[in-house]
Amino acid sequence: MSGRRKLVIGNWKMNGTRASGTEIDAIASGLAVRAEQQGRGDGVQAAICPPATLIATLSARLAAQPGPDVLALGGQTCHPNASGAHTGDISSDMLRDAGAAWVIVGHSERRADHKETDAQIRAQAEAALRAGLSPIICVGETEAERDAGRALEVVGAQLAGSTPDEAVAATTVIAYEPVWAIGTGRTPTEDEIATMHGSIRDRLRQRFGDEADKLRLLYGGSVKPANAEAIFSLTDVDGGLIGGASLKATDFLAIVDAAAKAE
Ligand code: PGA
Repeated sequence: MSGRRKLVIGNWKMNGTRASGTEIDAIASGLAVRAEQQGRGDGVQAAICPPATLIATLSARLAAQPGPDVLALGGQTCHPNASGAHTGDISSDMLRDAGAAWVIVGHSERRADHKETDAQIRAQAEAALRAGLSPIICVGETEAERDAGRALEVVGAQLAGSTPDEAVAATTVIAYEPVWAIGTGRTPTEDEIATMHGSIRDRLRQRFGDEADKLRLLYGGSVKPANAEAIFSLTDVDGGLIGGASLKATDFLAIVDAAAKAE
């Protein structure tokens, strides 16, 4: 037993409209049934990060559901500043105001499409913490970097550069997502995942001491109901960041069930 509560986060990316509210209802009611069966409290923790346009409406929808809060919401990126002249950007404070509790920062699609650097990602994570959001800081190597034998080094550098000094287990999560595994149906071997997560944990220990043993490390990249339990059972894997499979309530709930079994 790691003592770390399993966490499953769905990343909807640029998918979803208000009609997706029915999917959120299905996820929330499925989680509520599971929470009732398990008794309150320490089951798997779950969140969905929809497009920012949906956070307020989905938040209101979840608040209207009877029963305990079983599903949190998050953003997919945030600007380092709280407000100002940054056309098209969204701040952590705004995400929080809309009903988010989490925010993904440094996803490889942001690093690639928007040329986000480690320093910018760290500033985003710091802004999230200031706003009272929990950042999910993403790191991961490309296929060329893995083939060159540089995966551990690349991820180590991203981790060092993107993680704020203020990171503590209660508020910060790290997600390892190899770029070549995202949306491809390919995953690293269990050994490769275990080695990477072990290395991330070691680096966090060097920087944060004992706190590192409480920090949750997620794996992301082609997690599906069929492979989730094996991945989540690995030492130092505390849950998953789920893209494609989070868009369907049945798949997302099956992955939450896999996390519960891997507990
Ligand atoms: P995937 O995406 O599950 O569709 O591979 C994961 C992610 O990008 O967070």
